[in-house]
Amino acid sequence: MSEPWIVEERGGYRYPPGLKLNLPLYLSRRFFRIGNPILLFEHLTKTYGRMAHYRVGPSDIVLVNEPDFIREILIVQAQSFIKERTQKRMKILLGEGLITSDGENHKRQRRIAAPAFHRQRIQAYGSIMVERAAAMRDAWREGAEIDVSTEMMRLSLEVVARTLFAQEVTADILSINHEVNAIMKLYNFLIALPRAEDYLHLPIPGLMRFRRARKRLDEVVYRMIAEHRAAGVDRGDLLSMLLRSRDEEQDHAGMSQDPSGLTQEQLRDEVLTIFLAGYETVANALSWTWMLLAQNPEAEAKLHAELDRVLCGRLPTLDDLPKLRYAEMVLAESVRLYPPAWAMGRQATRDITLGPYLLPAKTFFFFSQYIIQRSAEHFPDPLRFDPERFTPERKARRSKFVYFPFGAGSRQCIGEAFAWMEATLVLATIAQRWRLRLIPGQRLEVQPKITLRPKYGIRMLPGLRVVSPCGEASAENPGF
Ligand code: HEM
Repeated sequence: MSEPWIVEERGGYRYPPGLKLNLPLYLSRRFFRIGNPILLFEHLTKTYGRMAHYRVGPSDIVLVNEPDFIREILIVQAQSFIKERTQKRMKILLGEGLITSDGENHKRQRRIAAPAFHRQRIQAYGSIMVERAAAMRDAWREGAEIDVSTEMMRLSLEVVARTLFAQEVTADILSINHEVNAIMKLYNFLIALPRAEDYLHLPIPGLMRFRRARKRLDEVVYRMIAEHRAAGVDRGDLLSMLLRSRDEEQDHAGMSQDPSGLTQEQLRDEVLTIFLAGYETVANALSWTWMLLAQNPEAEAKLHAELDRVLCGRLPTLDDLPKLRYAEMVLAESVRLYPPAWAMGRQATRDITLGPYLLPAKTFFFFSQYIIQRSAEHFPDPLRFDPERFTPERKARRSKFVYFPFGAGSRQCIGEAFAWMEATLVLATIAQRWRLRLIPGQRLEVQPKITLRPKYGIRMLPGLRVVSPCGEASAENPGF
């Protein structure tokens, strides 16, 4: 980018340009109420460009849109940043799991959890993913309306239940989902409440509901851990793996043998973290993909042709993944436009230099996949759905930090391989049988919560595809 940097000097620091008013005051004057933080980020980006500064109370906040600086924060100067305060509210629910912990604690947990996500280990889950997707496609009926966001949530919940706990979606799993949804409803309220974590014990109805939901959630998770431990066998699931894992590098203690007595809690935090990180993200990625395919029939036809050519009418297996190139490109383009993790944040532990800027310790830095991955500078005609952007040649020409749906550096998503595998196998299994059409006239809007959800769901009609004989061009049901 050729525009010169704008620097504002104050109190010995060099800030990017930004809002003169404290954010709450600014919002009350400009937008009155802002329920959608993406609108704020878009507004700041349009007004200030690569870097924008604002303050909330006494805290400095910088929105970073410059890929080189994101690289500095996540990789080069990563030691000078923590997630701690940006995740404080999440800790209310997730405790000290992988997503929310920092420093040595995080490093140790990552070492312990890594084997559970090893490529070889997760390969065993491929058949579960296909089996669940096949059961779902068999249950759909031609022309009978479905909400794909509900369907994909149910499917990925089933996958995570089977792969994480080696369990069907039993009443226990459904109650986890139910309590989590209840908690999510209160989540925005908790975020809006300053220092919510300090008031959680108060007898306020919203907080009491939150505490009840969290207690029920804990009971279910602890019971599952106890059952696994009592069984004492490796069921091939992630929880068995976590129970067996040892931190080879340090003290040879696994999560199940922590001498501090915090073992149960640690396991609970980890299990809940992986459970939550693992199903809503994938479900949202798939839901947006169905919408995009329906809106882009050319890409959809190419996908169908690939599925017919590679699979010849049989269900996909892990061995097919390297051949389902176009399916992978479709998903990559879908999470470019609708990244399930739509923004990330870090807080500086010391003064930070980024290009011409010098920002004080404790500054919060936010960067949004949603904003950067839709920038015309990095992706010409950015709102166009074009899977060809993800051919190996075009990928190689781009900086990693203009497209980072799974984050980067030492905290890059531990479930990335799992997510690609699940999304590709589910897409292939369902698209092989069904062509989904959008119900006209519905509102299709994003809702940026912890993940990027479709605000009003996505209502679609399934139409049966005529799978072309192996090797021939695919044909659609002409009557649909
Ligand atoms: C399309 C699907 C997914 C997306 C877009 C996604 C995105 C991300 C992102 C951006 C981060 C980094 C956050 C940060 O650094 O602040 C992350 C971390 C994480 N993800 Fe995912 N994720 C997905 C699926 C999964 C799955 C399937 C699992 C587990 C089964 C999972 C488990 C985790 C965990 C445990 C972390 C924390 C890692 C750490 O801090 O060491 N994710 N994910």
